[in-house]
Amino acid sequence: MNAIEVDDLVKRYGDFEAVRGISFRVKRGEIFAFLGPNGAGKTTTVHVLTTLLKPTSGGATVAGHDVVREPDAVRRKIGIVFQDMSLDSELTAYENMLIHGRIYGLGGNELKDKIERLLKFVELWDFRDRQVKTFSGGMQRRLEIARSLLHEPEVLFLDEPTIGLDPQTRAHIWDYIRAMKEEHDMTVFLTTHYMDEAEMLADRIAIMDHGKIIAEGTADELKGLIGNDVIYLRIKAPEELRCLKADFIRGCKLLPDGRVRLDVENAAGALPRLFELASSGGIKILEVTYHRPTLNDVFLHLTGREIREDADEREAMKVKMRTRMRMWGRRR
Ligand SMILES: Nc1ncnc2c1ncn2[C@@H]1O[C@H](COP(=O)(O)OP(=O)(O)O)[C@@H](O)[C@H]1O
Ligand SMILES: [Mg+2]
Repeated sequence: MNAIEVDDLVKRYGDFEAVRGISFRVKRGEIFAFLGPNGAGKTTTVHVLTTLLKPTSGGATVAGHDVVREPDAVRRKIGIVFQDMSLDSELTAYENMLIHGRIYGLGGNELKDKIERLLKFVELWDFRDRQVKTFSGGMQRRLEIARSLLHEPEVLFLDEPTIGLDPQTRAHIWDYIRAMKEEHDMTVFLTTHYMDEAEMLADRIAIMDHGKIIAEGTADELKGLIGNDVIYLRIKAPEELRCLKADFIRGCKLLPDGRVRLDVENAAGALPRLFELASSGGIKILEVTYHRPTLNDVFLHLTGREIREDADEREAMKVKMRTRMRMWGRRR
């Protein structure tokens, strides 16, 4: 049985179509990732699947229940970690767990035991009586994950589980996600705009852009959409920049930043022939880099754009800097 089935799902906000007819299946016990840039429609999809938003058209079932006709049944079987922090920061970690458990009808020793086990699992037991507002971003995220597991959901939704966290904390959270999936035999649906996160965690990935799924498969299958290796060239051509043609070049793209991207089966074998090709064409190669394809290359290949991993963080930093500069100005 599939844990999630989505058919031709559309979600409009007024005139704007945020999700434009997507269909996919998530198998039981699978970790499935939606990978896509900001605004792709990932959160909107999560909100429809978790019954918080009604679809404009199309349908979906989660854990065997229809999200429109049986929202209560769906809610009982799912856990959610929202993109934005949703803990009560005035309460302690323990109190946050307690309230959530009671909402789901848990109580007594069963609830106490579960809270203890889960807080120990995410290594927050020693901090259980501290107010959540004193927690770091990573600690808050761990607490939210622990809380989402209290009622033993069949399907867990994680919307950008490590957004804005430092690399070490992110890796730590990935460990928890993998461990809890093993331990609880859950299905996990996660969204992310981090390529490495999709690659590290997901059994299968759907790449989403502008409200549509533009590719789906395992990380290896997705990388297989382009040649085996990728070569980036910065070249000085005598005339207007054109794509290079040769039998060993499977694909060629001119990038907005002035580089040329080549897809080849084997970069090491292709490079000498490439230099030959260039010199016979009067082309000067200024810089060469090559690597095995990443999911970023796949996204670039499919859309002509890159997923800007750091755009959010940069934006947040800009705001911080502006605030700081304003304060600085005031002080003087
Ligand atoms: N409540 C809303 N009203 C109008 N537009 C919205 C609303 N929520 C999201 N959107 C728009 O829908 C698009 C998809 O948003 P979202 O689902 O949050 O994408 P993602 O999670 O992939 O960043 C974006 O263009 C966003 O601005
Ligand atoms: Mg989102």
